[in-house]
Amino acid sequence: MTADPSHSASAIFPENAVSLAHRFLTASVYDRLSRLKTATGFTLEQAIRSGRDNPDSHIGIYAGDAQTYTLFKDIFDPVIRAYHEITGPIHHVSNLNSLNLPDLDPDNRFILSTRIRVARNLSGQAFMPHITMQNRQAVAQQIQQALTSLPASLQGRFHAMDDLSPDQIRIRASLGTAFLPGDRFQSAAGITRDFPASRGVFISHDQTVHVWVNEEDQLRIICLEKTGALAGVFNRMVSVLAHISDLLEFAADPGLGYLTACPTNIGSAMRASVHIRLPELEKHPDRIDQLAWAHGLQIRGTQGEKTAVTKSVFDISNRFRLGIGETRLIENLHTGIAAIITAEKQLAVSGPESPEP
Ligand code: ADP
Ligand code: ARG
Repeated sequence: MTADPSHSASAIFPENAVSLAHRFLTASVYDRLSRLKTATGFTLEQAIRSGRDNPDSHIGIYAGDAQTYTLFKDIFDPVIRAYHEITGPIHHVSNLNSLNLPDLDPDNRFILSTRIRVARNLSGQAFMPHITMQNRQAVAQQIQQALTSLPASLQGRFHAMDDLSPDQIRIRASLGTAFLPGDRFQSAAGITRDFPASRGVFISHDQTVHVWVNEEDQLRIICLEKTGALAGVFNRMVSVLAHISDLLEFAADPGLGYLTACPTNIGSAMRASVHIRLPELEKHPDRIDQLAWAHGLQIRGTQGEKTAVTKSVFDISNRFRLGIGETRLIENLHTGIAAIITAEKQLAVSGPESPEP
């Protein structure tokens, strides 16, 4: 099909859009895909709404269900390749095996906490941007029920958010028993519809395992510890996933791995992060960016994505999650954080006037 000259990419997205969706949605791809609908009725227009309403989006596209990834492949494929930096075939790799790695910060000088999360959605259900209110409630009930069947060591309490006021949510979010309503990107994508209905947080009695229900994805399974024991947190995740996968069937694709609302999260759908205090490297932003880049890491602010670093506490995590097995992803993060701690120590010794290396 030839491109309709009146339908240039800049007519689809605002002129100042910077997203990958904007970059790759040519007029001809738009013309072809805009006529399609998935079996649940999800359209290209819905997929790109967040990127269109928020020209500062980096990605600018969400999936409404598993079929979105195949039906709208012509736009998702280049976005996925660009974000996950894949040039050859897209090939999901998974190896959820226990690891043995030294504690990154045995004296607790730098690392405040280690958190690993994986995203999952239930097979056969539309994703958060497109799920109906009734199905969202059914999903919450199914997950809540499944969590009651976890072994005794993982038993915990489910904190429903349905009837909470915005103030109560803010307070509970700071305690970990609720999550915030989501940002303007998620809101434009339809993810935050009816918030906080059918949302909730499960917390194991020992506090080390959290499950966020119906946030950006139907499940965000989180293992958390106030140490730098990356391997220990990962090994707990391996065990939790083995149990939860016996109870629930997740949306997945042989090539793309676990399917999520945002294409940045597919594959292992895992983000492993440390909260690390780096007062010296904070004064050398180029150096910390270069270290993160060299080790395939991503830097976020203290309160999460698109927030600022406060009190020198950086959130440093794996940048890639597709085409790389979970154990390698954790080993790379371990190597990168060790290098960052070494650089922080060196700067502390050489003093504030040391030149940029
Ligand atoms: P996600 O991890 O789900 O991609 P965010 O970047 O928004 O999304 O992080 C979710 C929440 O988890 C934020 O409140 C963030 O501050 C918190 N968080 C992330 N990493 C850590 C960590 N290592 N220790 C404690 N909290 C963390
Ligand atoms: N949609 C936003 C953007 O394009 C966020 C993308 C990644 N983050 C996420 N939470 N899925 O910039």
